[in-house]
Amino acid sequence: MKCTRCKAPASTALPSHNAAFCPDCFPLFFTKQVETAIRRQKMFTHDERILVALSGGKDSLALMLELSLQGYDVTGLHIDLAIPNSSPKARAKVEAFCQQHGLNLQVLEVAKEGLPIPAIKKHIKRPVCSVCGKIKRHYFNRIAREGGFDALATGHNLDDEAARLFANTLRWDSGYLSDQGPTLPGEEGFIRKVKPLYRLTEFETANYAFMKGIEIHSDPCPYSGGASFTGHKKLLGELEHKSPGSKFSFYDNFLKRGRPAFKLLEKEQGDPLSPCDTCGSPTSLDKCGVCRIRETLERNMKEAGESL
Ligand code: AMP
Ligand code: FES
Ligand code: ZN
Repeated sequence: MKCTRCKAPASTALPSHNAAFCPDCFPLFFTKQVETAIRRQKMFTHDERILVALSGGKDSLALMLELSLQGYDVTGLHIDLAIPNSSPKARAKVEAFCQQHGLNLQVLEVAKEGLPIPAIKKHIKRPVCSVCGKIKRHYFNRIAREGGFDALATGHNLDDEAARLFANTLRWDSGYLSDQGPTLPGEEGFIRKVKPLYRLTEFETANYAFMKGIEIHSDPCPYSGGASFTGHKKLLGELEHKSPGSKFSFYDNFLKRGRPAFKLLEKEQGDPLSPCDTCGSPTSLDKCGVCRIRETLERNMKEAGESL
């Protein structure tokens, strides 16, 4: 097997691209896919400030490194979830990575915000992962807005995006289907959200992270019982094996043909938004969802005779 680009012996075969690359040319392929994503989906420019959400996993660290190498003005944001034996390890990987590459990093500790995830798991009667996701998205948006950033980038890859699309399609959830995509424009207190790795698979970002020698946090979250959409990813993986390129085609054709149709369907306006009384985040009620979770947590802990 020879490298498609330089004809040296190839180390990585990519059947979906009908290509193979040697260790020198694979990162160039990766760079090109990220450049294409940013350009085609109008994500951001070199004049804008990008906040990159860093979990410590392969995707977000690979994204941060690649954007910095492409000369973008990037700052990392890590949310320390306060989960024993897990959060300190993830945070240490993110801090070491940013220090090694001379990259700016902000860390938000949910415990200092009155929202440690272990207490939420114990005292809030809702699936902890969904509350945790809500808290993360809240602080991504809030810190990006308060810091004057132009966009918030996450490390979601093609496998994440195709699996989410598959789940939304199985339910024909027109609300989500009108909204899902690699660029969500900013509006009314919401920062623009972008996913520059949407053209790259989990295998490709893992390969890039490995080739660049990035030390990653790879343990699954002890509360989640595995990654999200695992079953959907497996099914799409089988389809991809039989018919290389079908995963990308499913997602890319949705962006070209499906999403515009769902956007027309979902024209109706939601409830008007105004700033949260407590934290200023946009909400349709007096208080935003996260401030209400904090109050419920305080109340439930007090009733149980516990405190933070
Ligand atoms: P996940 O839902 O865990 O697959 O994460 C998707 C993306 O969200 C990651 O690639 C990161 O960009 C971001 N992310 C997840 N967890 C955190 C965290 N604790 N701190 C900062 N960013 C995160
Ligand atoms: Fe949020 Fe596991 S519960 S990462
Ligand atoms: Zn609030």
